[in-house]
Amino acid sequence: PDTFSSTLDVLNSILPAHLRKPRVGIVCGSGLSTLASTLRDAVQVPYSALAGFGKSTVPGHKSALAFGLLGPGAGVPVVAMMGRFHAYEGHSLSTVTYPIRVLAKLGVQNIIITNAAGALNPNFAVGTITVIHDHLAIPNMTGGMNALFGPLSSPDHPRFLPLSDAYSAKLRRLAFLAAHDLALPDAALAEGTYAWVSGPTYETPAEGRFLRAAGADVVGMSTVPEVLAAREEGMEVLVLSLVTNAVVIPEAYRSIKEEVKAELAGRPVAQVQAATVSHDEVLAVGREKAEVMKGVVARIIELLD
Ligand code: 6GU
Repeated sequence: PDTFSSTLDVLNSILPAHLRKPRVGIVCGSGLSTLASTLRDAVQVPYSALAGFGKSTVPGHKSALAFGLLGPGAGVPVVAMMGRFHAYEGHSLSTVTYPIRVLAKLGVQNIIITNAAGALNPNFAVGTITVIHDHLAIPNMTGGMNALFGPLSSPDHPRFLPLSDAYSAKLRRLAFLAAHDLALPDAALAEGTYAWVSGPTYETPAEGRFLRAAGADVVGMSTVPEVLAAREEGMEVLVLSLVTNAVVIPEAYRSIKEEVKAELAGRPVAQVQAATVSHDEVLAVGREKAEVMKGVVARIIELLD
């Protein structure tokens, strides 16, 4: 069944004419759905009203498309995905990427994809916004998945999509100009490589060390499938990863062997408490930094116009 034409019919029947052709798409990551709160003339359409959309099951993710205007004057028509789909929820990657293809059919040519991520690079503090310039997504590390497996979604798409220019230099440039305009400190924005893992587990220390050694700066469970679909659809892509926590990469493992030997010999044993990450922590940083992220995204869109 052609769920695309049904979805587009529903949107066209709901939306006023000036919101029907959004120029920019925004994907709101964990705790970042308030990115959509600055839209003027906003119209929210729940995913449940749209054929082909899955249901977002993750706390901190809403389930609606928000259409509206951003920026001064007449404003730029934009559409924001409040909530996304992840493979770890049990969604197929064709469901994960479906909304991206809907945005493409609405005429979106520039997409800003946000996410919450763990820092592998020790120089990236919590709260840093990472402008992604590359990614690492090896199918065997992600359940054997690539979002473009299967028949071509359109005969116009290439079978072998190049990814050497996946992350638009033009949009990355605007991100740093936006940070300058907003007088953000130098450390507020970094640039780096995003490693995609399937989740839902966070990394073991060994996996964190592996991904860091492989050249990744941040790690997360979303975004890359969306980037592939957006590139296949011919969009310019910007990815902004908000660092919500550091991935702990210990210099050395706590040695239980040495601790037992010390204990048996009556020597004092150091108490070691391993750090762990939680989704609540991820959401809290998202909420805390949502204003900065919102400012950067809004300014990029102004600069784009
Ligand atoms: Cl530490 N790992 C992954 N895979 N995703 C995350 C994260 C870490 N922090 C936020 N999202």
